[in-house]
Amino acid sequence: MSNQNTVNRELFDEVMVPNYSPSAVIPVRGEGSRVWDQEGREYIDFAGGIAVNCLGHCHPALVNALKDQADKIWHLSNVMTNEPALRLAKNITDNTFADKVYFANSGAESNEAALKLARRWALDVHGADKTQIIAFKQGFHGRTFFTVTVGGQAAYSDGFGPKPGDIFHAEYNNLESVKALISDKTCAVVMEPLQGEGGIVSPTDEFVQGVRELCNEHNALLVFDEVQTGVGRTGDLYAYMGLGITPDILTTAKALGGGFPIGAMITTTEIAKHLKIGTHGSTYGGNPLACAVAEAAFNTVNDPQVLNGVKEKAKLYVDGLNAINAKYNVFSEIRGKGLLIGAVLNEQYQGKAKDFLNAAMSEGLMTLVAGASIVRFAPSLVIPNKDIAEGLARFEQAVAKIVNA
Ligand SMILES: Cc1ncc(COP(=O)(O)O)c(C=O)c1O
Repeated sequence: MSNQNTVNRELFDEVMVPNYSPSAVIPVRGEGSRVWDQEGREYIDFAGGIAVNCLGHCHPALVNALKDQADKIWHLSNVMTNEPALRLAKNITDNTFADKVYFANSGAESNEAALKLARRWALDVHGADKTQIIAFKQGFHGRTFFTVTVGGQAAYSDGFGPKPGDIFHAEYNNLESVKALISDKTCAVVMEPLQGEGGIVSPTDEFVQGVRELCNEHNALLVFDEVQTGVGRTGDLYAYMGLGITPDILTTAKALGGGFPIGAMITTTEIAKHLKIGTHGSTYGGNPLACAVAEAAFNTVNDPQVLNGVKEKAKLYVDGLNAINAKYNVFSEIRGKGLLIGAVLNEQYQGKAKDFLNAAMSEGLMTLVAGASIVRFAPSLVIPNKDIAEGLARFEQAVAKIVNA
């Protein structure tokens, strides 16, 4: 039988497939932006479960929605619809460009649906030759074989045999490289409106607008992967809203459920109609528990006070990180948008992001990395300002330890 003595990090290596290398700490409880581990040690959470916990841990609105739905109905599958799914879909369509929603369980599945829809749309509307997908180097779209191949890091998609075909990679923020690949054979251009895993890279306005125009010229769909940027992360409900263009298909997951697994692919009626009955599906997509929690998360975040708060809190982070850098000179740049922030390590600390993450953990602070040389922060969108200050103080301790080592 398991108890706290036997359920430990060593057990992970014994019973888990070895595709992850989690920290030695096992958190057991969270409240807001504070987390406690098995030993009762407290941490401030600047990681947010990789941009998922948009309202921190155990936010009352989410806990109540989950408990309330738990007493009603848990699962029906797609042979029947359910009230939370319908309400959530209505909220999403009322607040975005989209008219239609397809629910999935994760970011990858939402992107899988988007890619299949783009291919099906092109086949129906333009014929069999329009199959090419353009995505971006360093992009990340999930780990199913289609999405990981569309992602721009061959290291993640190599080693599994023949890949899905007709996928090409341009350079982010380089419109010429998109022009060189796009043609009337392109069915979709797939991009993150801020590359997250690839290093917290914001697009220029000209680039995003140029990609939109190229898609229009070549009758290609523009697919925005907002799995990491969506639901308030950048200070807009969706990042496209701050970029002055509208995609044709958008995917959203992570923060959509605030910690309960859910994803969605959203689009217009004209495009959606090509996913006819039986063309695509999922047993769990639109599950009542997930949709009830997501409805609470979406509505709580979609509030001008919360969204403006993201911008104010982002400034606290940027100012705080710049102040740390003025003392210790470890970063070459602090970048990102809203509460998706990357602190880029300078020449001297290249490849050492993991060291900063580990040092922060020792000081009681949970952070993330984005690649080997960027420390990433994706905290709760409603993290109290005092937790930001305390967390930055802990981060400064961690930086000091590394610099003085
Ligand atoms: C932009 C983007 N798309 C897709 C995914 C994959 O989402 P999931 O892990 O829920 O499948 C991620 C995850 O990090 C992501 O950042």
